[in-house]
Amino acid sequence: MNKIIAIACHKGGVGKTTTVLNLGFSLNRLGQKVMLIDGDPQGGIAIASNLKKRTTLGIINLLKNDARPEDVIIPTRDKTMSVVGIGAIEPEDVLFLEKEALRGNLGRTIQSIADGFDYILLDSPAGIGGIVTALLTASSGVIIPINCRSIVVKTIPGFLKLINRVRDKLNPSLRIEGMLINMFNENNRSETEVYNEVMKQFPQTVFFNTLIPFDENVERASIKAVPVGILPKAQNIARAYIDLATELKIREIQGNMGGVADEYAEGLF
Ligand SMILES: Nc1ncnc2c1ncn2[C@@H]1O[C@H](COP(=O)(O)OP(=O)(O)OP(=O)(O)O)[C@@H](O)[C@H]1O
Ligand SMILES: [Mg+2]
Repeated sequence: MNKIIAIACHKGGVGKTTTVLNLGFSLNRLGQKVMLIDGDPQGGIAIASNLKKRTTLGIINLLKNDARPEDVIIPTRDKTMSVVGIGAIEPEDVLFLEKEALRGNLGRTIQSIADGFDYILLDSPAGIGGIVTALLTASSGVIIPINCRSIVVKTIPGFLKLINRVRDKLNPSLRIEGMLINMFNENNRSETEVYNEVMKQFPQTVFFNTLIPFDENVERASIKAVPVGILPKAQNIARAYIDLATELKIREIQGNMGGVADEYAEGLF
């Protein structure tokens, strides 16, 4: 079964879009069929991947019925990963998008194009508004990227509250895939202090073991609108994202193990 995973956090600028692009690219390198979808009216993923080279059509056009799925699902050069932008958003479209989110149409549209992919990663806007709620409602899991900055950490409880509310009222099977420490600089004293605090505040198991370090190559890749794995001389950060993709798969297998073990308890044949 495919997995729809929202990459979301209350705070802006924590690395949501960067995570979508680079985790998606790494899952694809591990052999998974991946689709990246822009759920952010600012069009984060479209910008990060230079999608406009191919199309400016996107989710908004599906919602307005003026494009077909094949017009907006754009395969990358090697055809095994696809990108879907939000579309060319005019200011009045933001309100339309929010209304469609509340009506459940945004989530249904995303689910309707998910077939045939192993992982669908949704780039979310910051905050806890209607669009984020709709993306969480349409997802099987959520990854929460955070930075070790006190202002970011203070927003985590509010975001977890939203996740609980979505689980209670809209999507009981939504699972927290993990919180991801992003842009970590282990030589910065205040960051390591916040890191130690965060580790005390939440159960260790909720965090990915993989930390994504602060690395200038992310900005270099961003200028070229490519994943870091494509850049020469960016092995460190590229390896961190491969580790993250591998860990996501391992956590998924471990999460499913209880049920599987029961099913096979009488033997394999
Ligand atoms: N590991 C990293 N090392 C250095 N810079 C990074 C790293 N990850 C992300 N960045 C930079 O941080 C900035 C914010 O990243 P990004 O746009 O992914 O955040 P976001 O959470 O999607 O922001 P928004 O809330 O505005 O959508 C970008 O300039 C990006 O290049
Ligand atoms: Mg973004």
